[in-house]
Amino acid sequence: MMSMISHRFRLAARMAGLAIVGSTTLTLLWFLPVKSLASDEQQTRALLEKSCAGCHRLEGAADSRFKLNAPDLIGAGSKFKRDWLIRWLLGKEEPVYVKNYRWDQLQQPGRHPVTSQGDAEQVADYFEKHLKDPRVKDGTIDLSTFSATEAKFGEQLFKEHSCIGCHQIMMDGRVTGGPQSASFLSSGRRLKADWIYRFNSNPPDFVPHSGEFVADVSELGLRYITGFIATRGWDEFKFYEPWTADPFRKADATRGAQVYKEYCVQCHGATGQGDGAAASGLEPKPAMHSKIAFNKLPDEYLYNVINYGGKAVGKSSLMPYWSLTLGQQGVADVMVYLRETFKGATVAEAAAGVTGGPLGVCPQPRTTKKAPADYLSRTNPLPATPAHVQAGKKIFVETAKPLACMNCHGQQGDGAGPIGTALVPPPRNFTCGATMKTISDGQMFWVIKDGSPGTGMMAFPGLSDDEVWQVVHYLRTLAR
Ligand code: HEC
Ligand code: HEC
Ligand code: HEC
Ligand code: HEC
Repeated sequence: MMSMISHRFRLAARMAGLAIVGSTTLTLLWFLPVKSLASDEQQTRALLEKSCAGCHRLEGAADSRFKLNAPDLIGAGSKFKRDWLIRWLLGKEEPVYVKNYRWDQLQQPGRHPVTSQGDAEQVADYFEKHLKDPRVKDGTIDLSTFSATEAKFGEQLFKEHSCIGCHQIMMDGRVTGGPQSASFLSSGRRLKADWIYRFNSNPPDFVPHSGEFVADVSELGLRYITGFIATRGWDEFKFYEPWTADPFRKADATRGAQVYKEYCVQCHGATGQGDGAAASGLEPKPAMHSKIAFNKLPDEYLYNVINYGGKAVGKSSLMPYWSLTLGQQGVADVMVYLRETFKGATVAEAAAGVTGGPLGVCPQPRTTKKAPADYLSRTNPLPATPAHVQAGKKIFVETAKPLACMNCHGQQGDGAGPIGTALVPPPRNFTCGATMKTISDGQMFWVIKDGSPGTGMMAFPGLSDDEVWQVVHYLRTLAR
């Protein structure tokens, strides 16, 4: 029915256009485009009035959804991404609202009225020109500087502030959350970031008395949640990598030394021995920078632990986040200072056990907390095939986040990684058969998932169960 209506409008307009051509041939060249633009808009307006406004409101003040027939299109020009809007009007997008929500009369994909491609484009143009929301400021959220870590924080806030109670997202490959209200499975293709930000700042400005929720989140937190929502389902989105940006090209070790003196020495000590004024009261102890081979550490990890703090990389929140204090230049400067100053323990120091005990010692003293009984008794459910062992090795040396295992446990598994020699207690020596045979598969699984609190062993919640079992298979191959 819709396309019939629009077709009729089109015909009428074309006939009007022809009439103009017939009367004034000379002025045609500049006159026709202007005239047709205006009439296109009038036509689109008429289409909206006739085919959409019966259900959707195009202007007015926000009102409760319980008084509406369909979601408001007030401010639609600031809300929807053009490509999504056009596909929606062509009936090519999944429903936005979950079953049994107020707008559930149109549950099947394609049940929403559809338009022609041309009309859909005209509607998108019209929205962008005439249905802008003056409260939404373009460029509030700069996604070109939005990092994967910020998205991770956004996801945490999304969980902690109950958003997941009413909006569904993909988590660990599964659709998760309460099926109520708008789905965010592909919100990044549908919604503009600046609109999401303004909405999140005070939802009742848009959907009063509609079951919406006002969260207690800081300005920075709003950026994280907004960026998280604005990138769901947007597969081509490239996350920003701060350590490749300008401040890092201009980093200066002399300025970094000053930052270190002013901010880091109080815990890490004047010469990076981990013996600053605060150290005696801290558990875990501040890292012994003097024994870390900083130049061998991945940029991403070093940046994250300094900029976002210990908690962001699964370590202790006793290590503060420095982003707000130092700014990006300060973080870049102190990173380059660490790299130029501290090159790791010498072979002799490492052998003598400068920190937690001589490396490679076997049997290795071990005080790790015992896993709960239901974990302890588990055995590896995967067969020890070469494919699983190989997959485990890749996780160990390369892909584990926040930091690949070998950076602490060493390429060989003896504990001599770039950070390994700085940790008290030292990393587990996987080459030591005598110690390893006392540790069950289930114990390892638990420590890898949850970490060993009060030690350098962080949690790896991002690894799936199968990935953890693969890595356990690999660790078993290292024992002698
Ligand atoms: C019969 C009522 C009806 C008509 C007519 C109608 N819509 Fe809708 N529209 C709805 C409902 C109901 C939804 C919510 C669909 C859902 O649950 O996913 C919706 C959703 C939308 C959305 C997405 C809204 C959001 O918040 O994500 C847009 C955009 C939209 N319609 C545009 C239009 C346009 C443009 C027209 C006219 C060409 C139109 N609609 C005609 C009922 C209607
Ligand atoms: C108690 C349920 C509930 C919770 C919790 C909740 N929301 Fe909503 N949300 C709603 C409802 C209801 C709407 C209105 C949808 C409509 O009818 O237009 C909404 C709409 C939205 C929209 C606009 C979606 C669109 O396409 O129009 C965004 C963005 C949003 N919520 C973000 C959040 C965030 C971020 C959180 C967590 C801080 C959150 N919501 C928590 C119920 C909830
Ligand atoms: C309030 C005390 C404190 C201050 C101040 C502090 N740190 Fe830390 N830092 C710690 C603690 C404690 C740890 C160990 C965290 C853990 O093992 O869970 C740590 C760990 C680190 C690590 C990680 C090493 C590893 O094992 O992965 C780096 C890098 C680091 N700090 C750099 C800095 C820099 C740079 C500064 C100054 C800008 C600084 N720290 C200031 C307490 C502090
Ligand atoms: C930042 C340094 C660090 C990283 C990265 C790290 N570990 Fe550890 N790991 C340690 C330390 C330190 C210990 C010793 C903990 C203790 O004594 O309780 C340890 C202990 C362990 C243990 C022994 C548990 C037990 O009960 O004895 C296992 C298994 C283990 N790590 C596996 C891994 C795997 C797999 C990875 C990578 C996915 C990894 N570790 C990454 C530092 C690290």
